Amino acid sequence: MSSAWEIDRRTVMVGAGVLAAAATVTACGGKDGSSAGAQAPVDGPPGALARTADVPVGGGVIAGDTVITQPTAGTFVGLSSTCTHAGCRVGNVSDGTVNCPCHGSRFGLDGSVRGGPATEPLPSKPVRVEGDSIVAG
Ligand code: FES
Repeated sequence: MSSAWEIDRRTVMVGAGVLAAAATVTACGGKDGSSAGAQAPVDGPPGALARTADVPVGGGVIAGDTVITQPTAGTFVGLSSTCTHAGCRVGNVSDGTVNCPCHGSRFGLDGSVRGGPATEPLPSKPVRVEGDSIVAG
């Protein structure tokens, strides 16, 4: 059964997608070379989240529900992008921290808490390098 609610919900979802895309475009290219916001799907093997070249040393990128950081050259770390404070998705990686837009929590590139109100680190997520891509798993 179709209803006005279903149409409105679909409209809202499309609008949210447009806003997310706009946020991605405007948030990329931070002053320190870090990327911010969600990444577009990448070409590569199944499960590819990002290209290794897109993850700055000392920074990171957000690919959906995964934050990929590169604390030191050649070492890639996968973290959940869900903030441990109240469940918002973290918004960007800049100046060496993963930052939540909701209440200002900051996490280190290893997921450790650098600033509250969060008290728990971002959980690890398995990632591996496959060719020039970072792959989930
Ligand atoms: S949900 Fe991230 S700081 Fe509150």
